[in-house]
Amino acid sequence: MKHHIVTKHICYFGVFAVTLWLAGLTTTGRAAGNEGCVILGNDDKPFTGQNHDPLFQILKSPGKCPGNVFDLRALLEKRGLTLHPSFVGNRGYDNPLPEGSFSFFEGVTGTLDGGKLAFGDFFFGHFTEATPARKPTTLSAQQEPDPGNLMIELIVWDSKKGWYNFYEMRGAGKAGVWYYRGDSMDIANDLAKLHRNTNPTQPVFGQTLRCSACHMHGGPIMKELSLPNNSWWRKDRPLPLGGLKVAPDIQPIFDKIVDAGDFSQWIKTGVDKLQASPSYRKARSKLTLQEQLRPLFCEMEVNIDSDLEPLTGSGEEVQVPVGFFVDPRLVPQGAPTIKISKKLYMSALTSFGSSFTDKDQGPRPTDPVDADHPWLTPVKAYSDTQAVDALVKQGLIDQAFVVAVLAVDMTRPMLFNSRSDLLLLVPQQFTPDWKDKFIENLRASKSPAAQELLKNLTSPERTVAFQQKQAQTLLEKVQAQVANQDYVTSLVRLLVQRRGEVFASVLSQDPLGQIFEPEFRVIFPNMSQLSKYLYPSGLSAQFWLTPDGKVETGEHNP
Ligand code: HEC
Repeated sequence: MKHHIVTKHICYFGVFAVTLWLAGLTTTGRAAGNEGCVILGNDDKPFTGQNHDPLFQILKSPGKCPGNVFDLRALLEKRGLTLHPSFVGNRGYDNPLPEGSFSFFEGVTGTLDGGKLAFGDFFFGHFTEATPARKPTTLSAQQEPDPGNLMIELIVWDSKKGWYNFYEMRGAGKAGVWYYRGDSMDIANDLAKLHRNTNPTQPVFGQTLRCSACHMHGGPIMKELSLPNNSWWRKDRPLPLGGLKVAPDIQPIFDKIVDAGDFSQWIKTGVDKLQASPSYRKARSKLTLQEQLRPLFCEMEVNIDSDLEPLTGSGEEVQVPVGFFVDPRLVPQGAPTIKISKKLYMSALTSFGSSFTDKDQGPRPTDPVDADHPWLTPVKAYSDTQAVDALVKQGLIDQAFVVAVLAVDMTRPMLFNSRSDLLLLVPQQFTPDWKDKFIENLRASKSPAAQELLKNLTSPERTVAFQQKQAQTLLEKVQAQVANQDYVTSLVRLLVQRRGEVFASVLSQDPLGQIFEPEFRVIFPNMSQLSKYLYPSGLSAQFWLTPDGKVETGEHNP
């Protein structure tokens, strides 16, 4: 019987067309002669354009074409480049069996033909699986060249374009074939209507490349970007392998695993490089003004934050990330984080029937009550924040405008707030007086959120300091209540809803994939007793934090 493997992505493109087409070549996936590898495009025909990135350069050099991740690694190393692998547990921190589902995401640096590859310029990812046929059960690379199998995903900086190219390798029978899927601006075009689709009969998402479903800012991503990088391998918290024996071919990758904190720096470097790239800024300035300002009003990506200590740590308190309560940009520097007794938190988990269960396995006696780190919460993505910063640097908006917008419906920092609809009142096209037009549109709107933003933008007393004071007061009011069990339980209920909101939001509606990858990753604990605390009409009503720091259920837009 074939062992059940959780594969990362289903193949959407014409696998069989590829295999037939490639039958015309001497060896599957490998072109003979001096033109280097065949790289296919989304139409399954050879891509005839010219990219200016190191992968393209290497694949187009004469020689054998890499047909799996080991070939690729060997070739990159032969060209003098250095590989820096990070390692993630796809099914949670300590849940390696039976599937052995982990990901390697590698950064590539060095010098290629005189050009320098810095951290953030070149990433590729590949996946592992358990092979029980080998005794003892072995952790192996998932590199079967079965038709359509996803073998490698790759993002690399194109120095001529000034943004990223996205590639992948898919199995084609005997070996993998390379595909060029598109670039950062193709992703921007796929997402033109995100949060802006006023016609429900029209699809929100373009379909040029599936990468747009999750890499929504057109660059690298890492959900668990900040410490403690839950489920990622860290020097001070390596991932348990449950007795799986590492296959000899991936042992050299293992020997070089980097700390997730280092990897996260390279992701940030990549995000920053894209946002600062002059040609990327120029290309974005040709998009509608709504698309340019979108990350201020709405979420494009999501990060996950948590307590810094594992649940099993010795601390008696759980530190809840500020971003759970309010956008951190509203919080004055040095504001204290919210600390909650671990006892009260644990008791709330018990009343909700919390257990970290791998749904593919069903409940097991060894299931912990929570993920590795307590209070895993969706927070504003670093990329969203940096995209807004770039607009400030560019002079399109200023910090006061940013704060005025974020302060609308402040206690709902992410998703399902009344702030996001205000994007549609932004004029479509840039004109020097766009802001006046926007204010006119706000004035003409009846929505309470529009009225609030109008006030934030026009009343002299609504300064940045004023809004920061509101945020700080909210945090103080929360802190003053956390000694109460019922209050902590209601906050945990709100937390569960915040997780659910990501799955329910438009960010998870792209048919080509969703950021939390529910088939592939196990991230959050399951709450078997939640129904007791469900608001009857689901997400059209919701739990929310009042400006007094109380948790109430109410209509979506109170
Ligand atoms: C279903 C969501 C999803 C889709 C679709 C997707 N990715 Fe990713 N990818 C991720 C996530 C999530 C990570 C980072 C790991 C994490 O946070 O768990 C990642 C990481 C990567 C990395 C490592 C560098 C980085 O950004 O962390 C590369 C390279 C990559 N993806 C390439 C691609 C390419 C190329 C495509 C399209 C062919 C693609 N991905 C499509 C979700 C996705």
